[in-house]
Amino acid sequence: AKLLVLHGPNLNLLGSREPEIYGRATLADIDAGLAAQAAAAGHALSSLQSNAEHELVDRVQAARDDGTGFILINPAAFTHTSVALRDALAAVALPFIEIHLSNPHSREPFRHHSYFSDLAVGVVCGFGADSYRYALDAALQRLAGSAA
Ligand code: DQA
Repeated sequence: AKLLVLHGPNLNLLGSREPEIYGRATLADIDAGLAAQAAAAGHALSSLQSNAEHELVDRVQAARDDGTGFILINPAAFTHTSVALRDALAAVALPFIEIHLSNPHSREPFRHHSYFSDLAVGVVCGFGADSYRYALDAALQRLAGSAA
C-alpha cells in the first residue's frame, strides 16, 4: 500500500524552530527516515508539507483516488483550528494517525483540544522526531495485518 505523510504549517522550519520544544531534526531528516522505514517494509511513502490549509485539504481529497492506504498527519497549528482538514479526512475515510513532536497536553490550554484525535486510529505525541517513527511502525503493523 501507499502511505502519505502530511505536515502542517511551520514544520518546514524544523531544526531551527524552537529546538528546545521541537528538536534539532529537520523535516528532510524526518521524511528521509520515514521513506527508508517504509521501503524496508515494502511500502511506498510520500510526504507533503504545506503552510496552506487548502493544499492539505486538496492532498487529502486526492488520496482517495491515488491508492493511498494510510495517512500519517501532523496537522501542527491546524490541529487546534481546522474543521476543514478534519472534514476532508472524514470524507475520504482513510485510516490515519495523528502525530505531534511535542506533547500538546503539557503545553498551553489552547493546544489541549484537537479536531482530529476522535477520528484518528491513534495519536502519538511527545517523542520528538521519534513520534513519526513510532506512528509509522504502528501503520506498517496495521497494513501487514490487513494484507494477511
Ligand atoms: C505540533 C504541536 C502544535 O500545537 C503546534 O502548533 C505545532 C507542532 C507538534 O508537532 O508538536 O506547530 O503539532
